[in-house]
Amino acid sequence: MNYQLHIYENAENTARAVAELIKELARAKEAESKQLNIAVSGGSTPRQLFTLLGEEYENSIPWATIRFFWVDERCVEPTHPESNFGMTYDTLLQHPFVPAANVFRMKGEDIPENEAERYQKLLWKELPASDGFPVFDLILLGMGDDGHTASIFPNDMSLLASEFSVGVGVHPVSGQKRITLTGRTINNAGKVIFLITGQSKAAVIEQIINHTEDAKKYPAAHVGSKSEVVAFYLDKAAAGK
Ligand code: 6PG
Repeated sequence: MNYQLHIYENAENTARAVAELIKELARAKEAESKQLNIAVSGGSTPRQLFTLLGEEYENSIPWATIRFFWVDERCVEPTHPESNFGMTYDTLLQHPFVPAANVFRMKGEDIPENEAERYQKLLWKELPASDGFPVFDLILLGMGDDGHTASIFPNDMSLLASEFSVGVGVHPVSGQKRITLTGRTINNAGKVIFLITGQSKAAVIEQIINHTEDAKKYPAAHVGSKSEVVAFYLDKAAAGK
């Protein structure tokens, strides 16, 4: 696994760099009269990106070109403060310039196993496929302090190799169930990027990027796009080591 490192002064500049990447990818797809299928993660880091997109990119991104899917979703109501969709809606999707028809949320309010099956069928219907898995153009990942990504946690690495495209994860501390893309769906994407900021993640990032033996216990270390190297968008704090 090779990695591209993009390192910025602070979290805001890092988010801006990802916003610019999304703008470029969307414009390229628009020029081909195609759509950009993106799967987004939740958490505090993407919140900064979505807020920036909502506030500053209305007129510079062809929003009708972008279709939003989710990497994972907490099994709560969409209006719950922990909902990934809810966070993305509040910061970006509520703006009228994002067509509601382009938003394909995971329904955290439904029975997890049923929603995982429904979402898998939806991905098969809405996306191209290769090697038996749906293909996203871009997957935006975060990483927890424990090296989890999506809702694939160190204590349940089986979701990395699942033959299903969508599965059910369980948060190891809270026990909260999560709908999540599986490792093979993530790795099937055209482009996979990590957006990670903050000093608390620096040690795990250092191990992953240096392919240490210890890194293998982190789900994030098993992410690699089939068609491109994985890009890490980091602030200096997260890249500190
Ligand atoms: C989630 C996310 C998760 C997130 C990491 C990082 O649903 O929690 O998808 O994988 O990306 O936990 O979260 P922070 O950006 O808040 O550190």
